[in-house]
Amino acid sequence: MKVQVCIIGGGPSGLLLSQLLHLRGIDTVVLEKYSREHVLARIRAGVLEHGFAKLMREAQCGERMDREGEIHHGFNIAHDGRVDRVDLLKYSGGNSVMVYGQTEVTRDLYEARDRLGGKVIHNAEDVTPHDIASDAPYVTYRSGEETVRVDCDYVVGADGFHGVSRKSIPKHVLREYEKVYPFGWLGILSRTKPVSSEVVYVKHERGFALCSLRSQVLSRYYIQVPLSDKPENWSDDAFWTELKRRLPSELAARLITGPSIEKSIAPLGSFVAEPMRYGRLFLAGDAAHRVPPTGARGLNTAASDVYYLYHALIDHYRKGDDSGLDSYSEKALARVWKAQRFSWWMTMLLHRFPDRVSYDDRLQETEMSYLFSSETAMRLVAENYVGLPF
Ligand code: APR
Ligand code: PHB
Repeated sequence: MKVQVCIIGGGPSGLLLSQLLHLRGIDTVVLEKYSREHVLARIRAGVLEHGFAKLMREAQCGERMDREGEIHHGFNIAHDGRVDRVDLLKYSGGNSVMVYGQTEVTRDLYEARDRLGGKVIHNAEDVTPHDIASDAPYVTYRSGEETVRVDCDYVVGADGFHGVSRKSIPKHVLREYEKVYPFGWLGILSRTKPVSSEVVYVKHERGFALCSLRSQVLSRYYIQVPLSDKPENWSDDAFWTELKRRLPSELAARLITGPSIEKSIAPLGSFVAEPMRYGRLFLAGDAAHRVPPTGARGLNTAASDVYYLYHALIDHYRKGDDSGLDSYSEKALARVWKAQRFSWWMTMLLHRFPDRVSYDDRLQETEMSYLFSSETAMRLVAENYVGLPF
């Protein structure tokens, strides 16, 4: 097979890029290790930056998002028994976020790929990039007994944190930066009315909690748990009891509980790999970086990589201009690090660290009271939460 761009990974990054390129006449194939059902069974965050929502519309994938997603003009932080609101509309200069689940984003992207007859190959085993430092790279994968070769101009590694692409960059070229947090988030999804119509982040002495939602009838809640914990240790009742203990009384009284339809623990970590380009291989999304979910930057940061890469590839194929490809890594990383900074800041502000000293507690309290007493601080948070410009 011969295509212009071979994309490894059929998560949101790979699918969005292939859809955008296809609409501009650039031929791609997406090689995904698992089945579509497997990819769509993953439940992840659900807050989209307005820039990401715009990109979905440009990719002709925004219709259901605009119909079923909710525009949120603010979010809340509960602390010290009260709830303070960050007014995104006011402090970001008129922007907002879209609450719409990542699983739904991925489903919409798959359906859009189907409509255009896009090439998406599932259950592609042993996907391996070759000769990426040359002018004639290719990718091989196994389908049953058969080994298939895909010749291409460029390879895009959009295969997530555990993918093969980043590992094919020589060790002496790659620099990796990592931070592991000493806790995880236990999350549940339940078909109940959300406790609040907007997202509420909770700082509490028993640990962080988050009240989020997918719609006005589907709630997503999380609580901070030790890394050693397991979802089996938590009955639904135990989860709801612990969540209530961390909420201000007025919210706890309003909480509607019900059976969980999903329950899992996600560890929290930050990671960045530099550079995001090696020869004709370009990394995008979780393949190059990840953030803790506090602040919901993960998918949004992947989207900015896709945006830069999409424009760089169009300039290459349409105008013979390679400046976008040449500056891709630097440009993408500049925004990636800002998302890292914001996610780290939100994580440090809201969690209970097992090894903290009293000095850390006082700093956390000071940070919180400063945030809600300073319009400048609110602006800083709001402009990051709605998403910095691409
Ligand atoms: N070969 C082919 N596909 C692979 C391989 C491989 N060796 N390894 C992983 N994949 C696939 C995964 O199965 C997955 O479907 O690549 C895809 C990567 O998708 P994601 O992990 O979702 O990463 P990405 O598309 O960059 O999405 C951005 O933002 O909110 C965060 O982590 C969240 O997934 C989200 C991410
Ligand atoms: C979610 O809805 O799953 C969610 C929302 C906000 C976050 C993280 C996760 O910061």
